[in-house]
Amino acid sequence: MTAQVIYGTEIAEQLRAEMKQEVEGLKKQGIIPGLTVVLIGDDPASHSYVKGKQKASDQVGINSDLITLPTSTTEQELLTIIDKLNQDEKVHGILVQLPLPDHIQEQVVIEAIDPAKDVDGFHPINIGRMIAGKDTFFPCTPFGIIQMLKRKNIEIEGKNAVVVGRSNIVGKPVGQLLLNENATVTYCHSRTKDMQKFTKEADILIVAVGKQHFLTGEDIKEGAVVIDVGVNRMDNGKLTGDVEFESAKEKASYITPVPKGVGPMTITMLLHNTIKSAKKFHQ
Ligand code: GUN
Repeated sequence: MTAQVIYGTEIAEQLRAEMKQEVEGLKKQGIIPGLTVVLIGDDPASHSYVKGKQKASDQVGINSDLITLPTSTTEQELLTIIDKLNQDEKVHGILVQLPLPDHIQEQVVIEAIDPAKDVDGFHPINIGRMIAGKDTFFPCTPFGIIQMLKRKNIEIEGKNAVVVGRSNIVGKPVGQLLLNENATVTYCHSRTKDMQKFTKEADILIVAVGKQHFLTGEDIKEGAVVIDVGVNRMDNGKLTGDVEFESAKEKASYITPVPKGVGPMTITMLLHNTIKSAKKFHQ
């Protein structure tokens, strides 16, 4: 079997066109969705992600603001800024770009954001709601993956979904969202024994470990749906995924490429969450 390639770029473009229309409608009611991104330090990858977020926000008409702070910013200074944003009626979404410098506790910062403005879906209240199966802000990459599957009419209910990787940002929440969609979910991680035994049983295989070509066609069941969340830079400077694309493509029924796969969906879901928040504030 040769897989159909799922381009996140195409699905993201469709979704953003729909969002643009929605935002135009909201603006007629005097509602301008507002997103503020806080970026600390000078990590080039973070700067590049944030630029993408700003550009995408502009594209759909979301009012986006960027606060850049030096690495020397203290935790207290950051908390003061977050508190101001929590109070600001024009701000519907707050995103503090991770990772943070070592002297700032990530969890303290995440918990300081008003859950009603937590468009990342990282606040424990929103995680709790997600686990309870309630509607809330879902973390953007996992939510984007679910949207990709849905837009491609890929059935989730009753399928064996295997998630490789257990990060708080991707692995854990994507497993939860798949469970909410009635998949049977298995998590694999660095301590899993005989991982191939699990990956070869997967109807839907999500790979988010951050290791170049961690899985190949050999690890995949014939006809599986393979979602590659990895973004790894090769020696030649090009980006590649956690899955060896060429061999996996010969086994899978659907597969996402890197780049142009999951990445564009993440930002799109951030826009979705910001619009959702703006609508809620004006209910
Ligand atoms: N760094 C890498 N991915 C993310 C994300 O989804 N949200 C935030 N806030 N930081 C990140």
